[in-house]
Amino acid sequence: MMLTNYRMREHDRKLIDGLYDLGAYVLGRIGKEVEDGYHTAMVEIGCYRGESTRIWSTMFNEVYAIDPWEYETAYMLREFNHVCKQQPLEKIKEELDWENIGTIATGVEDSFDEVTKTRKNIFKMKGTSMELCNTFEEEELDFVYIDGDHSYEAVVDDIMGWLPKLKPNRFIAGHDYTGNYPQIKEAVNTILQKPDAVFQDGSWVCMI
Ligand SMILES: C[S@@+](CC[C@H](N)C(=O)[O-])C[C@H]1O[C@@H](n2cnc3c(N)ncnc32)[C@H](O)[C@@H]1O
Repeated sequence: MMLTNYRMREHDRKLIDGLYDLGAYVLGRIGKEVEDGYHTAMVEIGCYRGESTRIWSTMFNEVYAIDPWEYETAYMLREFNHVCKQQPLEKIKEELDWENIGTIATGVEDSFDEVTKTRKNIFKMKGTSMELCNTFEEEELDFVYIDGDHSYEAVVDDIMGWLPKLKPNRFIAGHDYTGNYPQIKEAVNTILQKPDAVFQDGSWVCMI
């Protein structure tokens, strides 16, 4: 248990540092315009309990938070597919601490609402990335961060679907460019060649 807690803290610390570093990277490259009061708008695809969304809201002026907030076994198996791949269900259950996994998906949307309720620049949009993509105009956004459905096909759809929504010389990014998610690396590399940078939490970024 102690070790699990330690690993969680280590994971959380890397995530927080990685997201702040990525945000600073993006804003630093938009550069002088930001210093001159330019208004930044971003979309986060996949917000879960709102911890990353809250971080974005400290750096960007408008944060559109997209997530269906629907969880069932199929979602959990997809989400943990680095453990699930080609393993019998019994083995998956063992590795994921199946008895307790329900707690991972309990009250997620309520947590999001609680964690983000004081942040007036977060705009919650309930639905999937592809359902909501076309509510945005072409060349409207400065930054899109992808951390939703982690399958190869979904990451390809997310990148292709959201690229036109970005202004020129702006940034598309996402989470989990790591060995645990080879399909994410493959999707990013196939469409964007390779990321301009990868951060300590596995976040990747490309200027378009
Ligand atoms: C790994 S979690 C996101 C974690 C969050 N970014 C954070 O760092 O705290 C993935 C989230 O993506 C959402 N999701 C799954 N499929 C999605 C889709 N097609 N569009 C948008 N969000 C999706 C899930 O509901 C889940 O909350």
